[in-house]
Amino acid sequence: MAEPRTNESMEKIVSLCKRRGFIFQSSEIYGGLNGFWDYGPLGAELKRNVKDLWWRSMTQDRGDVAGLEATIIMHPKVWEASGHTSTFSDPMVDCLLTKKRFRADQIEPQSGVVFHFCDAVEAAAAISSANESISGLPDGEQKEVRLGGVQKAVQLLRNALSFPRDQVIDPMELVGAFVRKYGRQGRSLERNFSVLVSSEAETARAERVAQEFYEKQGLIAPIPRLAKKEQVKDSTGFNSENGPGKGAELTPPRQFNLMFKTYVGPVEDPDSVAYLRPETAQAIFAQFKTILEVSRQKVPFGICQIGKAFRNEINPRNFTFRSREFEQMELEFFIRPDEVVEAIYGKVASAAEVLNIEQRTANDEQRTSDAQPSTLNRQPQPNWGWEAWHKYWVEQRIRWYENIGLPRSTLVEYWQKPEELAHYARATVDILFKFPFSKRDDQGELAGEELEGIAARSDFDLSQHQRFSGKSMGVFDEELKVAWAKLDEAIRKNLWQRYHDARLKYLTKSGVPGEQAAREAKADADGLAKGQYIPHVIEPSAGVDRLILALICHAYSEDQAPDEKGKLESRVVMRFHPRVAPIKVAIFPLLKNRPELVRKAEEVRELLRPHMTVFYDEVGAIGRRYRRQDEAGTPFGVTIDFDTLGEKGPELKDTVTLRDRDSMKQERVRIGDLLPLLLEKVR
Ligand code: GAP
Repeated sequence: MAEPRTNESMEKIVSLCKRRGFIFQSSEIYGGLNGFWDYGPLGAELKRNVKDLWWRSMTQDRGDVAGLEATIIMHPKVWEASGHTSTFSDPMVDCLLTKKRFRADQIEPQSGVVFHFCDAVEAAAAISSANESISGLPDGEQKEVRLGGVQKAVQLLRNALSFPRDQVIDPMELVGAFVRKYGRQGRSLERNFSVLVSSEAETARAERVAQEFYEKQGLIAPIPRLAKKEQVKDSTGFNSENGPGKGAELTPPRQFNLMFKTYVGPVEDPDSVAYLRPETAQAIFAQFKTILEVSRQKVPFGICQIGKAFRNEINPRNFTFRSREFEQMELEFFIRPDEVVEAIYGKVASAAEVLNIEQRTANDEQRTSDAQPSTLNRQPQPNWGWEAWHKYWVEQRIRWYENIGLPRSTLVEYWQKPEELAHYARATVDILFKFPFSKRDDQGELAGEELEGIAARSDFDLSQHQRFSGKSMGVFDEELKVAWAKLDEAIRKNLWQRYHDARLKYLTKSGVPGEQAAREAKADADGLAKGQYIPHVIEPSAGVDRLILALICHAYSEDQAPDEKGKLESRVVMRFHPRVAPIKVAIFPLLKNRPELVRKAEEVRELLRPHMTVFYDEVGAIGRRYRRQDEAGTPFGVTIDFDTLGEKGPELKDTVTLRDRDSMKQERVRIGDLLPLLLEKVR
């Protein structure tokens, strides 16, 4: 029961997005382009609000994060260093029948009977060879039987040549017609092809799918030949998408690099190859030293960026959820390695200790974040190690989502299991949103899909850029230098060894030859005494478009509202939080043909406009105007009526009705109080 409702609600959402101008297909007049989406007037405002709120919370509201706006195309070495050139790929498979491409890991496992065909012969050839083998036989039962064997071929050929069903015709005449039309005798093709169907009862479908396959290989009216049948369980080797290709064989998985390639300059040769960035993060690492210098920040501090990213996704899907062009909001928060914190403060405060929350490990079960009320209300402390910083950012990010209108009950905090972690990551938490199209867990609950990943990435990224560019990515830390000189010898040795071992592990894993790796690891550990190290990083990385889709899905609702005559009618209302709502307030003069009402309404509009997005609407009955704004998600409506003009008494003069979108309640407010009242709600 749940599935159709889910799809239905997504259909309604997609249709509203188009109708009201939130989101629609790119290049729509040319049929659209798969994986590319445009944001219309309401969508553009919504997106801008979200990005502005993120930017404000990351940079302007705190003193330890600096902003960056880097180019989309960067030096190709950036992507070699980050590993994207060699490893940013997804396993893809192609349907041998439809040629559609899928991500191998998204194929649904299927069970049933596989029909393995080994070749196919054209009906004309099948008839000719049967004719030859029976031509010497006398008329009679045996001949009848053999001719019966080619009935299917005769039927196929009839169809292929468009002979009417009831026209009596000799099979060899059909073959003659085939030769005249195609200029060849019937031929055969040796090529394996398999089809998975749920059971033997679907034999005819398996044959039809195979027939279509051999037709696509150029055979006319082919008759596939079955080599064998096989029972399979949970196979991912066959097209699982409902449609004509269902059950058709897939190619073995191949790796497909997701970066969009282009050429810089007029010559398209290997030296001018460049890529559209697949993430905004790498520019932050590449510019780390420059920003450190110009911003006068000290570790721990962060650099953030909002911008476009491009991935040539094999299978864009679920509206904007997986797009080929999208925007990211990424923060790289640089911290001291734990050995450095310990050298300075004697001890690294554990996450449990500082955050007063139960210590969790990456092994922990997935759970909804509702289960755990937030207890983090401390400012960051200098003795925090990576675990505390990581948990701090997870909490910060969840709170931010709550702040813009996604309650905890819609979010899932998923701690990646050790086997899911990238090799350089110490821990990664995905913040999932329960989209209507999310899969359901064993209890039938929506499991959620990723909105954001918060990864503790060690010093991997900066180390890679140091290795590939030859430029130091290390920092100098006066506090470390002073503290190191005062350390007890045994502690110093212990910290040196731990830092050395971590560096050696990284260098060895990165393919640096043994002796060189040992030399470099020692030099890195010796650097501690001089106050030098490569910072570690915590990376909260969010997708703007996924968040917009989450906000839209969460905001969408249908309820009943009274029309002008008090009769209940159903309405669609987008319950956006006022902070993100595309339009904050709509202004309605009660009647458009009363200049004094219109004048007053325009005055109110001009009063509010410098501070928030305002929509002025004087067309149609007031109930209809409310409905239009409900659909746009406008949280407040201000109506200027005759009371405003003081016609019903001086005490109401210069008051307006303020309507709340969600409760539909109306209150009388003085125009002079309107701005502070609204500002308090929308900021
Ligand atoms: N720098 C780390 C990074 O890029 P990611 O998990 O690949 O990590 C981060 O991407 C976020 O970007 C995701 O959580 C998601 O919100 C968004 N994102 C990734 N691929 C996307 C796509 N094809 N379409 C829309 N958003 C995408």
